[in-house]
Amino acid sequence: MNANNSLIQFKNINKTFGTLEVINDLSFEVNSGDIIGILGPSGVGKSTILKLIAGLEKPTKGILINNTKKVGYVFQEPRLLPWKTTLDNVRLPLIVSGIQKKETTKKALHYLDKMGLNGFETYYPAQLSGGMLQRVSLARAFALEPDLLLLDEPFSALDLRLKSVLETMLKELLAEHPIPVLYVSHSPEEIVQFANRIFMMFAGGIIEELPVDEDDDFKEFLKDAFLMTV
Ligand SMILES: Nc1ncnc2c1ncn2[C@@H]1O[C@H](COP(=O)(O)OP(=O)(O)OP(=O)(O)O)[C@@H](O)[C@H]1O
Ligand SMILES: [Mg+2]
Repeated sequence: MNANNSLIQFKNINKTFGTLEVINDLSFEVNSGDIIGILGPSGVGKSTILKLIAGLEKPTKGILINNTKKVGYVFQEPRLLPWKTTLDNVRLPLIVSGIQKKETTKKALHYLDKMGLNGFETYYPAQLSGGMLQRVSLARAFALEPDLLLLDEPFSALDLRLKSVLETMLKELLAEHPIPVLYVSHSPEEIVQFANRIFMMFAGGIIEELPVDEDDDFKEFLKDAFLMTV
């Protein structure tokens, strides 16, 4: 795919908060088929990249071209509306995107079921566990049937067993609906499972794309490279 029909284009983007330079002269494109893993230590600017794409932050300098129609966003924290039920939380972005009411219920129920949440449709966020809230958040992102998915450490608050169950669910969903993904994580192991492109972020807003290789040496290299950034 060439530069003109890529989904997202960052052209020499800078982002500063006050005097803090979080992103320094970043250029990259997101094309169909890309599953981009973003690795880097806490506070380096990973979430900021996703927020720029979703329009929740504006670049300080540079040009950001966004050709997406619907972006599914799994935030670092589940961000559900406490006064709405599980079902209504998942339906909300569908309603906002103009989908008919009956259809929103059907899609929401389908993806809640995929996440193992049937029976919990009428529960409110305060009645759900942390892992369940994350699953509602994933169901909400998928139910929108987006053309780009932003995942911000979607499994970081979960125990290992649930994490592995949800990783499998996510892989199945992505196999059914192959859409480009930007996947932020602290974990090199998690990133190599999903990503076919890997960005490593360093303090000072420096971002490097690493050549991806699936062999074990690469996984070791990635772990070492990650440790150097921390
Ligand atoms: N709205 C804001 N106003 C001021 N500073 C901000 C704002 N948003 C982010 N920052 C700062 O930008 C830097 C990068 O934040 P960001 O949330 O992107 O980091 P991160 O890599 O996602 O970290 P973590 O792994 O802990 O989630 C941090 O130093 C943070 O304090
Ligand atoms: Mg973050």
